[in-house]
Amino acid sequence: METWLMQTQSLCIVLLMLAGIVARRRRQLHVKLMSIAMIWDIILILQVELSRSAILKASNAITNPLILNVHVSFAVATVILYGFMVHSGKKMLANEPGIRKKHRILGYTTFLLRILTFITSFWAVAPKG
Ligand code: HEM
Repeated sequence: METWLMQTQSLCIVLLMLAGIVARRRRQLHVKLMSIAMIWDIILILQVELSRSAILKASNAITNPLILNVHVSFAVATVILYGFMVHSGKKMLANEPGIRKKHRILGYTTFLLRILTFITSFWAVAPKG
């Protein structure tokens, strides 16, 4: 698959997550938007993995291995944080005392990492030509 198509999906996921944060006081909508964003993101990672050799062939190869490692590290950290978001999110739904602050800090950290994953994706792969 073309790199730009993956990056467009990546941007949509960031925007979905932003919408989920804007709707953070509307529980049902918040949970729906975040669930779609996280599931879509995992599907996107599978797409990237499955066509990795295709990307390498199509591009001039990796521009900078350091920035690729940084990009992959951000992406992995984001997915690990998704697990924590679901876990703490369920506790939020159960109105567990003291969980809100934790869910909020984890939530903004996850969002920041997801944005950094998107930004570094542009440096990780050289354009074709
Ligand atoms: C990447 C995923 C997620 C992010 C970035 C995120 C972020 C946030 C943020 C920033 C808040 C506001 C907290 C505050 O200001 O006190 C919030 C509230 C909340 N979140 Fe999430 N969240 C995510 C996923 C989830 C999931 C998966 C669930 C449920 C399973 C969930 C359930 C809730 C609930 C119930 C609230 C409180 C809503 C209210 O004020 O009534 N969140 N979330």
